[in-house]
Formats: sequence, C-alpha cells, structure tokens
Amino acid sequence: MIIKEPVRRLPGISVAIFTVALALLAVACNRGGDAQGKFVIGFSQANKAEPWRTWMDDSLMKEAAKHPKLEIRYADAQQDNSKQVADVENFLRQRVDLLIISPNEARPLTGIVKRVYESGIPVIVLDRSIEGDTYTTFIGADNREIGRAAGDYAAQLLGSKGSVVEIKGLPGSTPAIDRSEGFHEAIAKFPGIKIVADPVADWLRDKGREQAEAALRANEKVDLIYGHNDPMAMGAYLAATAMNRAAGLKIIGIDGLPGAEGGAKAVADGKLDATFLYPNCGREAIETAVKILNKEQTPKKITLPTARITRENAAQYINP
Ligand code: FRU
Repeated sequence: MIIKEPVRRLPGISVAIFTVALALLAVACNRGGDAQGKFVIGFSQANKAEPWRTWMDDSLMKEAAKHPKLEIRYADAQQDNSKQVADVENFLRQRVDLLIISPNEARPLTGIVKRVYESGIPVIVLDRSIEGDTYTTFIGADNREIGRAAGDYAAQLLGSKGSVVEIKGLPGSTPAIDRSEGFHEAIAKFPGIKIVADPVADWLRDKGREQAEAALRANEKVDLIYGHNDPMAMGAYLAATAMNRAAGLKIIGIDGLPGAEGGAKAVADGKLDATFLYPNCGREAIETAVKILNKEQTPKKITLPTARITRENAAQYINP
C-alpha cells in the first residue's frame, strides 16, 4: 500500500501538467483568435488622402468582407511618421493577430515594425518597404523595374535625346528611391538625355504642379517630365498647360488608376503620354493574411506585375 500510493498519485500529477501544457499550447497557437474564432487585423495606412490609397483600401476591405472571421481595425497615419508609429504601437498594445502596414517612410517605421514582428505578431508590409526585412511578407511591384521601363520609354519618346524634369516622391519612401534609380539606370545608356531639374513633390499633385512650374520657368527647353506618380505628373500637365508650355512636351507618370479621375483615363485623353500600372496590393494583402493566420507558409516577397499604359491600351485599364 505504502509503495503503491505515490505510484497512483504520479499519473494524476502528470495528467494535470499535461493538461496545463496543452492549454498553454492551444493559447499560443490560437493567440488572439478569440472565443468566436475571430481574427483581428490592424491595418496601418500611410494616408487616405491620395486616390491610389483609397483604391488600395477599397480592394483590401472588399476582399476582407469575404471572410466573416476577419475584423479589420484601420488607422490613417495622415502622411505623418510619428502618427504612424503611434498607430502601430496601439495595435501592438491591443495584441492584434496580424499587422498590415504601408509605411509612410522607411527609416522612421523600421523600429516599430521590427518590435511587432519580434513580439510574435505576423507583419505584412505593403507597397513601401522598411529598412531590413523584419516582417513576414512584403507585397508590392518592383519599383526599380518600373523606373527602368519609364526610362526606356522616355528615351523612345525623345528619340534618345532631350531635356528631362524628374518630379520625385517623398524622399524617405522606398518607391521614390527605386523609381529614380531605375530611371537613371535606363537613361544612362543615352548620353543625349539630360536631367535638368529633379525637384521633390512628396507624391502630391499640388506640390507637383508648383515644382513643375518652377522647373519650366527655370528651363527654357523641357522635352519630357517624369513624375514618380500620376498625381504629380498631372500637376505637371496642369502647370505646363497654364504656362502655355504643353505643346510637344511629353509627360510620364506611374500608378495607372482606373476610373474617370485615374491615370489610365488621363492617358486616353492625351494629358499623359504614358503611365505604368502600380497594382494596389489590397486583395493580395488579405489573401496572404488569411494564409498566415491559417499557419500556411508565405514567401518573404510577393512581386506583383506592372504594365505600360499608353493611348493604344488605356481603355482596358479604365474599367478593369
Ligand atoms: C500613394 C502613392 C502612389 C504611389 C505610391 C508609392 O500614396 O503616392 O501614388 O505610387 O504611393 O508608394
């Protein structure tokens, strides 16, 4: 009897330990997924003022609506790095199940994204990247390739020589860097092409218009304006038209938004000579999030395709 006692007690203790361990494992595996099996996604958007961002938000929300188990919590950083850091800190405090972020600028957002990722919350970075790769998956198009394609097409439009104004996006955002480097790489093959001004307009149409006006005033001969996005390219179009400098001037943008106000329509109307499609990543973000939440493996980088939009093919991009 005396010998049997502890033998009988032992399995009881083991079962208890085992049960606690199982419960802990279940909590760990299902972290955040609440009693109803809902998953909370924190979505930190760089801003919602620009049309491309609205396009992304709409695609993302439409895709998310297909999944009743997903709850999206949305935060608009209003193009302000500190606000975006605070927004993400807030999601971290809430222990969301997954973070989706389109960072305003790379460096200021790198630290907080790293903290979230290292705390065990999966992170999907969209369109603009951070420094390093402390995230689960990055989704976006290849901006360097887009820049190169824009440079090659600029050379074609110019017959390999001419004066170019490049209007740049927000300097600390990775697409602005890559779209510039790719463009420079492509035109380096044509010594007759010179960049006569390269002002920064932070992705914004009104600033693009002001900067284009200043560049046109300062340079008697401008043959082509390359805007890192369509709003800035449209700003350049408005400036050139108002200044009576539009005749013969070529203008190239990037984004190719659909709809009556989009870049594809501006190309069809002859306001822009070309634009390059920049896919909005919204649908793919949710598809990837669902995979991650289902514990499936996802690639470190998902590169979405681009396309050159000219007058010949613009119609198909206006109503995709
Ligand atoms: C919108 C936007 C787009 C551009 C992208 C680059 O905020 O400026 O027009 O293609 O961001 O990240």
